[in-house]
Amino acid sequence: MFITFEGIEGTGKSTQITKIKDYYESLGKTVFLTKEPGGSRVGTELRKMLLHVDNKDITPITELFLYLADRAQHIEQVIRPALDAGDVVLCDRFADSTIVYQGYGRGLDTTILKQLNEVAVNGLWPDLTVVLDIDPEIGLKRATLRNIEDGKAKEEGRFEAEHLSFHNRIREGYLTWAALNHDRMEVVDASATPDEVFEKIKAVLECHRSKTD
Ligand code: TMP
Repeated sequence: MFITFEGIEGTGKSTQITKIKDYYESLGKTVFLTKEPGGSRVGTELRKMLLHVDNKDITPITELFLYLADRAQHIEQVIRPALDAGDVVLCDRFADSTIVYQGYGRGLDTTILKQLNEVAVNGLWPDLTVVLDIDPEIGLKRATLRNIEDGKAKEEGRFEAEHLSFHNRIREGYLTWAALNHDRMEVVDASATPDEVFEKIKAVLECHRSKTD
C-alpha cells in the first residue's frame, strides 16, 4: 500500500503522518515513512539545493527537473523496494506536488508535467493521496514559525518566502487537481485540532480499505 500526503505549507502533514504510522502499526503492519524532496541519498543533496533561500535564482524548468530527478531516484531506490518488502509506504509529498507547484504555481503546462511525472514514477502511482487543506495565511504563518524554531529559516525557507498570492494559487491548484483525480485523491479539512483531523483521515483510510479488501 502506497499512500501520499499533499497540501500547502503548514497543514500539519508531518504530525498526521506520524499518527497514521501508529495507526497502521496498531493493525500489525510494517510502515515505512519517506518524503520528497529528499527521500534518497542523492535526494538529500537535491533537497538542500531546492529549498535553500539563497537559491532564489533557480529557474522554473531547472526546479522542475530537480524535483523529477529526486522522484526518479526515490522511486527506484527507496519506494519500490519498500513496497516489494510488503511495507505500507507513507510519503510526505509526491508527483502531485509537481503538478500543483510547478504547474498551477509556476505556470508550467500541466499536460507536459503529467507526462514527465509518468517518466519519473515509472508506473508506480499511489493507491491513495490525502490532500490536507487549510487557509494559506494560517498555513504560511505556521510553516514560517516552524522553520524559525527548527533553525532552518534559510535552509528550508525558499517556498515560504514566496508571496501569499503564490500560496493561494497552490491551494486552488490542489482543490482543482484533486477534483480531477477524485478516484485517487481525497481532500481533508486541516483547520481543526490534530486529533480531529486524524479522525477524518482515518475515516478516509478505512473507507479505502473496505473498497480494496
Ligand atoms: P516540505 O518538505 O517542507 O513540504 O517542502 C518541500 C517544498 O518543495 C514545498 O514547498 C513544496 C515543494 N515541492 C515542489 O515545488 N515540487 C515538488 O514536486 C515537490 C515534491 C515539492
